Parts: sequence; structure tokens; C-alpha cells
Amino acid sequence: MINAREFIDNAIREIRSAVGKNKVISACSGGVDSITATYLVHKAVGDKLTAVFIDDGLRREGEPEFVVRTLKSLGINTKTIDAKEEFFKTFQGKTDAEEKRKAFRDKFYKTFGSVAREEGVRFVVQGTIKADVIETVKGIKSQHNVLEQIGIDPQTYGYGILEPLRELFKPGVRIVARELGLPKEVSERMPFPGPALSLRVLGEVTPEKIEIVRKATQIVEEETLKLGVFQSFAVLHNDKATGIKNGKRVYGNIITIRVVVSEDAVTATAKEIEYKTLFRIAKRITESLPTVVRCLYDVTDKPPSTIEFE
Ligand code: XMP
Repeated sequence: MINAREFIDNAIREIRSAVGKNKVISACSGGVDSITATYLVHKAVGDKLTAVFIDDGLRREGEPEFVVRTLKSLGINTKTIDAKEEFFKTFQGKTDAEEKRKAFRDKFYKTFGSVAREEGVRFVVQGTIKADVIETVKGIKSQHNVLEQIGIDPQTYGYGILEPLRELFKPGVRIVARELGLPKEVSERMPFPGPALSLRVLGEVTPEKIEIVRKATQIVEEETLKLGVFQSFAVLHNDKATGIKNGKRVYGNIITIRVVVSEDAVTATAKEIEYKTLFRIAKRITESLPTVVRCLYDVTDKPPSTIEFE
């Protein structure tokens, strides 16, 4: 168990001394990690910090509005960059999971790099946590927010990186968020990956596919909210399956529903869900999304699976 007050005081002191008189920019995607990291830095350096929300077109329903509203209500200077088209362009023709992650990461840093140069900042804040560092070092995945760990010199992008949460696991981040007085919607927020819905569209990412998985995700989240699970979401497959819509046989989309229980994302258990909940989710998804003909439930733990499909 961490001493949250002590952690916060130390972090603020360290951030202040690292930053000095320089300007700072924060990569704020909206998760508990990035908002907590941003707020810590705001507490340390006030108006020297600008939080930037990059609208990559890959966020969940209502998420861009939520993030910007929350940051502003905390008194943080906030800027939104509309980069939707550029992100979708970068995914064109890419089907491999790691290739997609790399494409996301490169676009993300390029976009931030150019905002950082415009703003004349020297430091970038990121909500990297310990699980990200461990899994990247082990080679399980190349997390976009652990540049140094994967051997890319952050200076190549022209700025230094502040990662005040890198020694904490998710439960520790939540304790710090509560101690900082952040709203419950933030401190108890379900984890969501940096590359967002792009990891949940198998194969090539397009605006149309993202729209399908966004709607399906909203349904899964709504229907599983009261279960208090670690993560729940929908995944859109690249393959198709035969089904029946409006009395006609069609070759349509497949959605997998994934609901997991976990402490720190390093291991996870597939949640045993009541059949009627699963049935309701499948019914809502197939009724509200005309192209979806089949819904599946993933019963695999991590390991051998990972939580995300990509
Ligand atoms: P996996 O799928 O590796 O996920 O079991 C473990 C936790 O990390 C999240 N995740 C990511 N987060 N960038 C992120 O910021 C990523 O590339 C990424 N991949 C997975 C995942 O949602 C889960 O909470």
C-alpha cells in the first residue's frame, strides 16, 4: 500500500525541479493514468502546463467531450487538436497488430511533437505506469508511451518526457487520484488503451469499422457497468460470417464481447456472466448495428490470451 500524500508531495517536488522555468505539455487521452499524471504536473507547475487532447477519431462515445470538460473544470490549460483524418490515413493498408501500434505511436508523437514545438515546450507528460514498463521490457507488446524502454531516444522527437506514475500499478494510481480529489468518473475509470479502438478493430482500421466498434462498446459498457469489472468491451473481427437480416441471408460482421476481472492487467480472468446479460448485449448489438450478424463471448483468461485482441 502506498502512502498517497507522500507520493504526491515527492512527485510535485521532483516535477518542479525537473521543469524549472520551462513550459510543459501533457499527452492527455482521458484515462485515469493520463488525467492523474496531468493533474499532478498541473499542481506542480500550474500555468506552465498545457494539456493537449488529440482527437484521433478512435475514442469511445462521448469521450472527447468528457476529457476536455474534465480538464477545463480542473483549471488546466487545455487544447484540442483535430487529427482524425491524419490518423485514419496512417492506418490505411495496415493489418498487422504491431504495425498498427507502431503507426499509431508514430502519428501520436509526430502530432505532439509539432504542438510541442509550436508551444515552445521542453517537457511532455505521459501517464506511463509500471505494468506498461514491465510488459514492454518483456516484449509482450510495444506500448506507445514507453519510448525509452523500447530503445527510442525521446530526444529524437525534440523533447524530454515526464512520467510521474511509472512506479505505480493501476490500484496505486487510483489511490493517488482519490487523494488528489479527482472526480470519481476519473479515479474509478475503466482502463482504456492509448491506441484506443484501433486495437479493437482486427485488420485494417477505417472510420466505418471504428463507428461499429464504438457503438458496440457503448452497449457492452452500459450492460456490464453494474458488474464493476476491470474492463469490458467489444471487438470487431476482420472475418465475416453468414447470418440473416430482414429475412435475407447476408455475409456480415462478427463482434466478440470481452469482459475481464483483473487487479493490475498483468493477469486477468474472463468474467462468468449471466446468460441473460450476454443475450441482451447480443440482441442490442445485432439490432442496432445492421451489418453485425453474430456476437461471441470470449472465455479465455490472460495468460494465455492478452486482454486486448491486438
Ligand atoms: P493486454 O492486451 O496486453 O493489455 O493484456 C493489458 C492492459 O494494457 C492495455 N493496453 C494498452 N494500453 N497502449 C496502452 O496504453 C497499448 O498499446 C495497450 N495495449 C494494451 C489493455 O487495455 C489492458 O488494460
